[in-house]
Amino acid sequence: MSNSLMKIEKVKAYYMLKDRYVKAVDNISFEINENEVIGVVGESGCGKSTLSNVLMMNIIKPLALIDGKILFKTNGSYKEISSLSREEVRKDFWGKKMALIPQAAMNALMPTIKIEKYVEHLADAHNIPKDKFLKKAKERFEKVDLDPKWLKRFPFELSGGMKQRAVIAIATLLDPDLLIADEPTSALDVVNQKMFLKILMEMKKQGIVKSIIFVTHDIATIRQIADRMLVMYAGKIMEISPIDKIVEKPLNPYTQGLLNSVLTPEPEIKKRGITTIPGAPPNLIDPPKGCRFHPRCPHAMDICKEKEPELKEVEPGRKVACFLYSEERS
Ligand SMILES: Nc1ncnc2c1ncn2[C@@H]1O[C@H](COP(=O)(O)OP(=O)(O)O)[C@@H](O)[C@H]1O
Ligand SMILES: [Mg+2]
Repeated sequence: MSNSLMKIEKVKAYYMLKDRYVKAVDNISFEINENEVIGVVGESGCGKSTLSNVLMMNIIKPLALIDGKILFKTNGSYKEISSLSREEVRKDFWGKKMALIPQAAMNALMPTIKIEKYVEHLADAHNIPKDKFLKKAKERFEKVDLDPKWLKRFPFELSGGMKQRAVIAIATLLDPDLLIADEPTSALDVVNQKMFLKILMEMKKQGIVKSIIFVTHDIATIRQIADRMLVMYAGKIMEISPIDKIVEKPLNPYTQGLLNSVLTPEPEIKKRGITTIPGAPPNLIDPPKGCRFHPRCPHAMDICKEKEPELKEVEPGRKVACFLYSEERS
């Protein structure tokens, strides 16, 4: 049996609007290995949050799973979670096998609900005695450098950094195999970012979580924590590769553009992760034909305007979707 925890096969998930659809995740395949951190990068609007939800099977209208399979390894065999309903996945997988820290999660906490209520809800959902679970929550709060007394408080009493640490402590209470964190550090200052990343890596080290999908537009963070980098553009995977190789020599011109923006000397650009690639990602209702990046690509060839490049292995462990690395170009 392979060491992948999850297999994602040709998955398409679109937002079905009245007379159009938004192709936010469009024919994506990759595997998540056990004990690895995958950093997912790409500009805003490229489908990173949609992909996070799709991996969780958290599919709520107008989003629909159009095609493909999602397999999750559980008790030594693969279960096709994409054939289950959201409710079934929620009951059997969420919290225990996989957990999501949604984008802006810390601001989604209800200001009038005490933090410990969230813990109690989770205990209820999984038929765990509340007091036993609260005890565990107290221990975990200490692990994330929060005084357990904060469990009795309201979210508005906590600072941003404290709220985000409370969110990760609660999300991982049941020791999920996979944690998906969608831009968890974007709203934090540098000190709290560092603290959050340290906690995250400590949780992995201690085996509280095994694998992590970390979504960000901050490549510098990915370089610190990830084993592999997955680059998304306009609903597609452009490149997926071990982190050291991709940083040393990015293959896809889009990856090159993203990495260049990190190497820029201007601190503001660096800090905000703004890309220096001219132009903007396309509208996903009617994306460009061929390679979706071709209108912005400095190396675009005729074939790129006509044909879609497949994500292909170009070196062991490295995959890229680009005709520059394909025999088809000539
Ligand atoms: N509820 C929705 N209805 C319609 N389109 C949506 C919805 N949510 C996101 N989208 C669209 O899906 C695309 C991908 O969005 P998203 O997954 O949020 O990207 P990212 O997280 O990379 O910024 C964008 O074009 C966005 O406008
Ligand atoms: Mg997002």
